[in-house]
Amino acid sequence: MQHVLTIDDLSTDQLASVLDDAAALKRAQADGTPHRLLAGRTLAMLFEKPSTRTRLSFEVGMTQLGGHAAFLGEDDSQLGRGEPVADTARALGLYADAVMARVDSHADLETLAANAGVPVVNGLSDRAHPAQTLADLLTLREVVGDAGTVAWVGDANNVGASFLVGAAMAGYDVHTATPAEFAFDDAVVERALAAGDATGSEVTVGHDPEAAVAAADAVYTDVWVSMGDEAERERRLAAFEEFRVDSGLLGDAAFMHCLPAHRGEEVTADVVDGPNSVVWRQAENRLHAQKALLVALLGS
Ligand code: CP
Ligand code: NVA
Repeated sequence: MQHVLTIDDLSTDQLASVLDDAAALKRAQADGTPHRLLAGRTLAMLFEKPSTRTRLSFEVGMTQLGGHAAFLGEDDSQLGRGEPVADTARALGLYADAVMARVDSHADLETLAANAGVPVVNGLSDRAHPAQTLADLLTLREVVGDAGTVAWVGDANNVGASFLVGAAMAGYDVHTATPAEFAFDDAVVERALAAGDATGSEVTVGHDPEAAVAAADAVYTDVWVSMGDEAERERRLAAFEEFRVDSGLLGDAAFMHCLPAHRGEEVTADVVDGPNSVVWRQAENRLHAQKALLVALLGS
């Protein structure tokens, strides 16, 4: 049984295959071709934090695949009243064919995976957002093609860590710029460099936005204050002031953001709402990419 807690829980070949299948499922959905590949199957969805896109794209995806998704929010399950994560995992696995979870602590995902007895998919943790990365890579294929150069500017957060590793796995050159005090963990950089060695992609991490975007076909940023980072808000806003993506920094590149965006903080309104923005394509591709992932994990 396979879990997807980080993007490199998939092999490079599996990642490419999921993206191929996502493109095919996107065409099938657009054509109205039925694809009830998970009829009778159920995805349990456990959320400790708010969500718009992740919840709806997984839920609608299961519907389109002929299955069902059951939502358990923070106040809906016994987890909120102190039932251990391991016990919750065992219960979910008795009923559901897979679990998707958005948790405060990545360690809780590992406990879910160790105890559920069914595949567990990360719907965002403090460390990683691989489901987002699948959509990002599908978007890059559509917008940039199979090869190119991408830049990450801003916080070295969950979305950034998964994108850095995933883009290198998919063969894109990746250059990052973060404040020194909010840099990527060494372990994340090592995983990205290893992926880049395997695929031939160049990976650099630094602190200079202009240098990071110099050759970029796409520039990606995310919020400066992620869920759980609110206590650091003032320190973060000060540290990230030089890392805002505006039209001057973006140039002719495509603009990427996982959403929700904070106009005037990490990105200016003219960029996120402008002609080079592919953020709504990314949001739509959550649906298609996650359907392909679920079929890969559960399809017989
Ligand atoms: N990008 C993303 O995961 O959005 P939600 O928080 O709305 O799920
Ligand atoms: N980095 C953001 C992403 C939200 C989808 C957060 O963790 O809040």
